Amino acid sequence: MVGVAWYPEQWPEARWDADLALMQAAHVSFVRIGEFAWSTLEPREGVYQLDWLERAVRAAERHHIAVVLGTPTAAPPAWLTSAYPETLRTLRDGSRAKHGGRHQADNFNPRFRALAGALVERMAARFGGDPNVIGWQVDNEPGSDDFSAGTRTQFQDWLRHRYGTLDALNVRWTTAYWSQTYSDWKQIPFPETRDANPGLMLAWRQFLSDADRSYLRGQRDVIRAHAGPRQRITTNLWIDARAKTAETYSPDADAEDLYTLNADFDFASWDEYVGIGHFDPARMGLTHDVVRGLLHRDFWVMETQPGTVNWSDNNNSLDKGEVRALAWHAVGHGADAVAYWQWRSALNGQEQYHGVLVGADGTPVPVYDEVAQVAGEFARTAPALAGTSVAASVAVLNDYSSRWAIGWQRFARDFIPANALFDYYQPLHDLTHAVDVVAAGAPLDRYKLVVAPALDVLTPAAADNLAAYVRAGGSLVLGARTGLKDGDNGLWPERQPGPLAALLGARVAQWYALERPVPVAGSGRAGQASTWAERLDVLASDVEVLLRYGASNGWLDGQPAAVTRRVGKGRITYVGATLDPALTAALLRRLITESGVAPVLPGLPDGVDAGLREGGGHKVLILTNTAADPRRVTLPGPMRDLLDPGERRVVTLPRYGVAVLEADAK
Ligand code: GAL
Repeated sequence: MVGVAWYPEQWPEARWDADLALMQAAHVSFVRIGEFAWSTLEPREGVYQLDWLERAVRAAERHHIAVVLGTPTAAPPAWLTSAYPETLRTLRDGSRAKHGGRHQADNFNPRFRALAGALVERMAARFGGDPNVIGWQVDNEPGSDDFSAGTRTQFQDWLRHRYGTLDALNVRWTTAYWSQTYSDWKQIPFPETRDANPGLMLAWRQFLSDADRSYLRGQRDVIRAHAGPRQRITTNLWIDARAKTAETYSPDADAEDLYTLNADFDFASWDEYVGIGHFDPARMGLTHDVVRGLLHRDFWVMETQPGTVNWSDNNNSLDKGEVRALAWHAVGHGADAVAYWQWRSALNGQEQYHGVLVGADGTPVPVYDEVAQVAGEFARTAPALAGTSVAASVAVLNDYSSRWAIGWQRFARDFIPANALFDYYQPLHDLTHAVDVVAAGAPLDRYKLVVAPALDVLTPAAADNLAAYVRAGGSLVLGARTGLKDGDNGLWPERQPGPLAALLGARVAQWYALERPVPVAGSGRAGQASTWAERLDVLASDVEVLLRYGASNGWLDGQPAAVTRRVGKGRITYVGATLDPALTAALLRRLITESGVAPVLPGLPDGVDAGLREGGGHKVLILTNTAADPRRVTLPGPMRDLLDPGERRVVTLPRYGVAVLEADAK
């Protein structure tokens, strides 16, 4: 489906039909409405006006356009702020957030939750049975913090529940360090600085994700009580997919644990923004795969840019054809819907310059035709895509506690946790074209190869999960900085990889932040390590050294950089350095071959992304070319072209070209 974010409350009703007719002409399947409309839905406390929303739902229905209703709680109205100033978020410096933007409310404040819940209850009671409402979006891009006294008490209660006794907390956080020992739960502070106690910092972030989850679940429960299972409930996650450097990185980029935040929804959705520059299929592909892995099922892109945003330094447009390639690329990675933000420029308000499909005058802008093409293609191919999903036999683990823990103590300036994930994801995707990204505690038995990059925080449960996977015959690769910390962000008393060191038969003797690249060679390969290098100690005679460091700081010279060990039919490998891309790919190629992972499409030319969706006795292959020049792709056998009917064995794709091909499953 293609959807659009439409804000009927910003326009006289007399204009609605014209807008909806233009959507219908563009094959738009659904509108997302209601989010941010609190002041129109409840103009005064307890005075609810939902009739206009009902008229908007009916108007859409007349144009055969379904509705996803957003709860408007990310934009509380002015009357609420002035009547209940205590609902405004308290910022880290103790000041209060101000009215006039979004997310100014404290989602953990009981008064705010009650006010939000009352409105959501009205909406759900009215629309829970509505045949034209197909789903709900709770809040908008959730994830917040708050430093009020009330939240501090909630945090202390959460800690009490987690640790049981203060003695346990004091031990787990080693509070004897710098006399941090607590003798009363009330003494436990917010982590005021970025170098607070690591146990406190990790617990605070985990608390925030839990508290946000409970806020979202509160609304979900209200909706669920009125809505049948036909209406599916989600929230639209904000995820920054853009590459980061030491200069642009902030540990706040990974503010929430998405596995926690999204746990209670029927499906996951996220907001895919390129922002500045052009579409990077690998970074976007990784993020799609993260979202697909949240609930292990297909997902939606709830917002994407129709050409441009308004919030970058330089809001260049995506090129002609790029919006279409972006949409099909998402489908190839498992998206079932792509929705554009937004339909039409509001006359006033903060986002007047943002990309749209229809200008303030109500007539289409140039990108409208491209979105209409996408929507028409989606409509034509929907029967073939229905019930299909991406199936991968390789997984990369993604762990927010580890990302936070490393982010707060990077040690090496250029070690960016998201890049550690990407540095493995990209070659794995290039080699196989189907990679799942899952949590460290996820079931792993469906995978032949699992890679854990920088799994710094290795909980006992995750360690057991990984060890069981290897013992059952899986091939596990641990990347540098794995297994240093336990679930409280404390050091494991064993050297890295902590509880997996015995299984590996090796351990990390010492880690080094590198000043310059170090040569690395072994098993007939050579390359270099940069940023991070761990000197490994081999402890067991059946451990094979895959790579050794060349001359460097003396400490590393000639020492093991990567080791591997067979465990029954399984294998465990540890790579203790940030290797260059070619060497990483060479290492992975060996493990992919050995573990019997078959690539979706061998010999795919670079610049082409392949997504394979299977189900219902057939498979659909989606190819998108982002290379500057045309690319010729030889198919594994004859396939039916769904966009340009005919049988194909070879397709040629121009820049931003797309092919959607179907075959019966073998
Ligand atoms: C999103 C937000 C939308 C809109 C959009 C502009 O983050 O959810 O409401 O503001 O950005 O790019």
